[in-house]
This record gives sequence, C-alpha cells and structure tokens, in this order.
Amino acid sequence: MNDDEKQKLYIAVRSSLNSILVSTPNLISRMATINCLLSEAFPHYYWTGFYLLDENKPENLVVGPYQGTMGCLHIPFGKGVCGTVAATGEAMIVDDVHALANHIACDSKSRSEVVVPVWDGDNNLLGVFDVDSTELASFNEVDKVNLVGIMQDMFSNP
Ligand code: SME
Repeated sequence: MNDDEKQKLYIAVRSSLNSILVSTPNLISRMATINCLLSEAFPHYYWTGFYLLDENKPENLVVGPYQGTMGCLHIPFGKGVCGTVAATGEAMIVDDVHALANHIACDSKSRSEVVVPVWDGDNNLLGVFDVDSTELASFNEVDKVNLVGIMQDMFSNP
C-alpha cells in the first residue's frame, strides 16, 4: 500500500470513528472500536491494542483492549517500545524490533511497530496505543501522524 492509499484509508477510518463514537464516551468502548476499525482496514496491522496505566502499580502498564495474538500482560515504564513511549511521552516507529536491545517479544512474529502515547483532555497519560506488523518497516510518518490524531480525537478532545 502506498502512502496516498494509506492516508485515504486513515481519513476514512478517522471519520467513521468520529461519527460512530460521538455518542459513546465510554473509553473501553472507544478503544475496542478503534482496534476493530483500524485492524479491519489495514492488512499490515497484525496486533492492535492499548496498554493502560496500571492503577495497582505506579509506572507500569497493563494490557487493555486489543485484537491479535495474546499480548504480554504487564510492561514496566522504560521497557520495550510501549514502556519507552509511556516513559517519554514521545511516539516511536521501529522498523526492526529485533534490532532493539530491550524489545519485549510477546509474539515472535512481530517485526516492526508503531506506538503512540494516549493523553486525556487534561494532559494526563492514559497509556499507549501499539500496532505491530509481521513485516519489517511497515510503519512510517503517515501511520504515526494519523494515529496521534485519532488518539487526540478520541481521548484528548472527546
Ligand atoms: N511490542 C511491545 C510489546 C507488546 S506487544 O508486542 C503486544 C513492545 O515492545 O513494547
């Protein structure tokens, strides 16, 4: 899929999410629906889901709604891509997860990923949104920018 096709699909998914979820403020429903529409739309999405702040353990993430093979349940801040994004608040694209020293191998089929932070309307971190692909270098700025925008629509300016 080239970048133009990707961008068009993201615009379509983003607009569907905005119209479907306008009357659904529940965060878990929003997360589940985001996972569903994005993973249905994009063939390169192998694992799609949220890691949320663990209310029982500071500076730790716990798995939230996802679609795909079984994800790791707990990820400490700073560990792997998700933990790094939670610690820094900066989105990350990883072309080859095997080249990353502290990558967490929940599923050995995952080869590349994009992870973006999820903020609420008061700028508090809720968690991260993680997408993994079985191919190398599946994600680029088009994915990152659109995913950041979707998270803002759904959780920062709901
Ligand atoms: N990819 C993540 C771990 C979670 S899963 O792949 C489902 C990471 O390295 O942070």
